[in-house]
Amino acid sequence: QGSGALEGAHCVVTAGPTREPLDPVRFLSNHSSGRQGYAIAGALAAEGARVTLVSGPVAIDPPHGVDLVKVETARQMLKAVEEALPADVFVSVAAVADWRPARAATKKLKIKGAGSATPSMELAENPDILRTISNKRKHRPSLVIGFAAETNDVEEHAAAKLKRKGCDWIVANDVSGDVMGGTENEIALVTQDGIDRWPRMGKDAVARRLAQKIAEALDGSGDE
Ligand code: C5P
Repeated sequence: QGSGALEGAHCVVTAGPTREPLDPVRFLSNHSSGRQGYAIAGALAAEGARVTLVSGPVAIDPPHGVDLVKVETARQMLKAVEEALPADVFVSVAAVADWRPARAATKKLKIKGAGSATPSMELAENPDILRTISNKRKHRPSLVIGFAAETNDVEEHAAAKLKRKGCDWIVANDVSGDVMGGTENEIALVTQDGIDRWPRMGKDAVARRLAQKIAEALDGSGDE
């Protein structure tokens, strides 16, 4: 049903949360259904792209025609993305855990019993996948896109994030209203050229529109 505008392009998309083990039965994670990332992967495939979808644990089925790589931790996600390169486009939709337990026990941690001290957990910083891929010298995709959920000053925060991460576009999601947890999203696409506010629409419509924008951008860069 797509236009085939992305035929010959390779796109890598991350989606879902990551899961950072504390021991074999416990983990740190983020809320993320994976819906927006899966919709984007599907929309890119529908435009004819070869899509590698690197996904943390989610409860939804992958879209047709994508290569699914399942991961758990942020470090596994980064490794899977790097192994999927070279790519023309990287879209970082995953809700990556910023920290992980510094040590993961190989056996289940036990409660020591009444009166014993509550254990504390030391954290270690996870790699920033978006920033790492944005700053690659070799194999940097020609278009690197990050996501940002903002509640206020959407433009300023997104513009700052664009610089900090070194990516080309930020898809800023205005979560100040009642979009959180819903089926619709309110998006502002922030690029070096400025900000493009989209009307509120469903996650599938966001995905289709973003896929079209990506096709236009790749087409334009090819003409130069
Ligand atoms: O810094 P913040 O988490 O708000 O940035 C969100 C963007 O960065 C998203 O595109 C997300 O996928 C990406 N990210 C990442 N690795 C991290 C943290 C965020 O790729 N460790």
